[in-house]
Amino acid sequence: MPFAEWNDNLRLGHERIDRAHREIFALLNGMHEMLQGGCTHQEGIKALIYLTNHIGEHMGDEERMIEDAGLDCLVAHRREHAAMLAELESVVERYIAHEDSDGAEVLEFLADWYGKHLAGADRTLAQALLARENAGDLVGVTD
Ligand SMILES: [Fe+2]
Ligand SMILES: [Fe+2]
Repeated sequence: MPFAEWNDNLRLGHERIDRAHREIFALLNGMHEMLQGGCTHQEGIKALIYLTNHIGEHMGDEERMIEDAGLDCLVAHRREHAAMLAELESVVERYIAHEDSDGAEVLEFLADWYGKHLAGADRTLAQALLARENAGDLVGVTD
């Protein structure tokens, strides 16, 4: 059974965001398998840095979408992302500092935070973006 199981309740209906979230879940599962399979500490560090960067890129992408759509949730959404990245950095630093760490703390933090953010701020964001995109389509039809 995958560590972070994807299911239809996690689908937000916005293709670009859903695709990115599925990718992050796949990376989380790959990371879990690696750690369970007894990867070296160095391999764990490399994979965690990759995963952290990937999540950072996705957050940046969402923030660009918010900006482009002119939505007023930019500050709050960016604040949630920044808080998560700061916390993630300290969890990753603890993994790096403890060679005997099994990485469970990092994975649990990520799965927990991601689940909450996805079900909260990202769901609201996807709905707002879809509403804006549909309104844009209607404008296109009447023009
Ligand atoms: Fe987000
Ligand atoms: Fe997201």
